[in-house]
Amino acid sequence: MIIETTTEGIYEKLSRLLADTVPDFELRLKAELAAEINRLKIEKNAVILGHNYMEPALFHSIPDFVGDSLELSRKAAETDKDIIVFCGVKFMAETAKILNPTKKVLIPSEKAGCSLAASITAEDVRELKRRFPGVPVVTYINTYADVKAETDICCTSSNAVAVVKSLKSDKVIFIPDEYLAGNVARETGKQVIFPTREPKMRFPNELDYQMIGWPGRCEVHEKFSVEDIQNVRKQFPDVVILAHPECSPEVVAASDYSGSTTAMISYVEKTDAPRFLLLTECAMGDNIMAANPSKEMLRMCSVRCPHMNQITLEETRDALRLNRYVIEVPEEIRVRAARAVERMIEIGAVGKVD
Ligand code: 13P
Ligand code: SF4
Repeated sequence: MIIETTTEGIYEKLSRLLADTVPDFELRLKAELAAEINRLKIEKNAVILGHNYMEPALFHSIPDFVGDSLELSRKAAETDKDIIVFCGVKFMAETAKILNPTKKVLIPSEKAGCSLAASITAEDVRELKRRFPGVPVVTYINTYADVKAETDICCTSSNAVAVVKSLKSDKVIFIPDEYLAGNVARETGKQVIFPTREPKMRFPNELDYQMIGWPGRCEVHEKFSVEDIQNVRKQFPDVVILAHPECSPEVVAASDYSGSTTAMISYVEKTDAPRFLLLTECAMGDNIMAANPSKEMLRMCSVRCPHMNQITLEETRDALRLNRYVIEVPEEIRVRAARAVERMIEIGAVGKVD
């Protein structure tokens, strides 16, 4: 793969993709930064992984690979570079370290957290296992390493249904996203209950449930409502609406399509429609529009992920210059977390499981 290291080369690409939306002087500044990053990347034998939510100038200039959580985990596991710079949030960078522990993994900002990952602790999972002994635990990849270490298998938004089906179990603990749990339950014909944090709360054995959830939510996707969808459809009757599965089951049901960030991008690219609305982080619509100028995307950019937005070209340059911020995972936790992530990757590789 040829890496563009000149400001002029990057500026030419960025202005071809973004000149309609970004002022020229801004494009020049970003191109200069991106060129410096790409030179540092070669000098330090690094690979840059960029999540689909990265802002357009970064997304279209410095990543060697872009994608959703599952795709980037695979790339992190496969790379032979010395350094992995993760332009995404902390749980993603941690997953890279879990899968490829001999590499130095850097995240450009220490503030890039995630409301879902912050919603549950390893002790919470141990408590669930005590309350529901023998029930397999499926953990969304949007969690920290110590939580992954307590679980049987991880999943991402692109393989959650396949992972749950692969367990061939009547009951599953599915944590921590209550909306994703609801969406997976709907697709697998299961019902979900949400235990309270009250330690004294007891669940009778005869209760009719098959999925045990957790009240975690994505602070971005929880903001979209069925009313938003109705209003948009009134204003634009021909709009095609796509919702990430971290949206509520009601929002997903009122949309035309639901899938991981990459699945949504592919759907838009393959579908002929007058206009699209993505119920997800706003930068993704901008990235699609830049690469596919014929696609009209409606923008709902009052809803942003404050964590993903911590990752800038400036912070990425400084990460490479200063070797910061290094992701560390204690080996005892890493080994147990790796089992859960690798099990998921095996399932992802064989596609849908029935
Ligand atoms: P994807 O795995 O679909 O990219 O989602 C990650 C995420 O954090 C969405 O909010
Ligand atoms: Fe976490 Fe939501 Fe941001 Fe994704 S969009 S990183 S789930 S807070």
